[in-house]
Amino acid sequence: MQVIRDIPELRDWRESVAFDARRVGFVPTMGNLHAGHLALIDHAQRRADAVIVSIFVNPLQFEDPDDLARYPRTEEHDLERLERAGVAAVFLPTEPELYPHGQDEIVRVDAGPLGDRLEGAARPGHFTGVATVVTKLFNLVQPDVAVFGEKDAQQVAVIRRLVADLDMTVELAIEPTHREPDGLAISSRNRFLDAEQRRQAPAVHRALKRAAESLAGGHTVAATLAGARHWLSQQGFAVDYLAYCDDERFEEQTRLVPHGRLLVAARLGGVRLIDNLAVHTPHPTSLESDR
Ligand code: PAF
Repeated sequence: MQVIRDIPELRDWRESVAFDARRVGFVPTMGNLHAGHLALIDHAQRRADAVIVSIFVNPLQFEDPDDLARYPRTEEHDLERLERAGVAAVFLPTEPELYPHGQDEIVRVDAGPLGDRLEGAARPGHFTGVATVVTKLFNLVQPDVAVFGEKDAQQVAVIRRLVADLDMTVELAIEPTHREPDGLAISSRNRFLDAEQRRQAPAVHRALKRAAESLAGGHTVAATLAGARHWLSQQGFAVDYLAYCDDERFEEQTRLVPHGRLLVAARLGGVRLIDNLAVHTPHPTSLESDR
């Protein structure tokens, strides 16, 4: 595995792979690699000949400096996991390598209105930070295929729009959310949960499943969401949002749509957990009823 820390070396690596006419798969990460990341890598390996992973904790997408400072950085452990996973290369740029002129005056890629809704409203500027770094990484790595996780469903939607609106040629592949046996979505932030919080944490996923069942059972969107929010607060969570939206624009919906999604962000003490669940309505024609 080639460990690449600067842009000239990355360009050399990319040229050598192009020379061998190998298809490049790319998994961008912020490190602290877990089973969810390994599944993304496995997916990339099935779709490409050479897989490169980037590890960069992108300051541009953190609106809270304490959250950025606390984000787990586990380079040695990550490199071991990547080596074992058989990736061809890992790109580990420093902040000055990616943002040589600092962050204040950098040209940013605006994530548009989609980036201001739901998670974007809770974390202003977050998706513009994501869109900017992903654009830079795509330009540098020039992947044939890039793999992202459905756990960050709104991020996936932003990146789909980014690729479509800026005429990028990269193919996107989306891997389903990886969960612990009790349903908790695997995330780098789970390590901040203490034993009692870890016991409570699967309630986030349970709230989504109960809400999906409630919608399937014919309850209104408003009553379903109110019930799910109430239930989650009873379990000890401070709910940032629990919403039902369409799966493309992430606009909140008050009636069922053919491709809908339930999204939640909730805090347990100082730990913020997010999760989501696709709610596909099999018979859109039945949506005419006033739900
Ligand atoms: O999902 C992540 O880990 C990050 O948002 C990403 C896509 C690597 C951009 O920094």
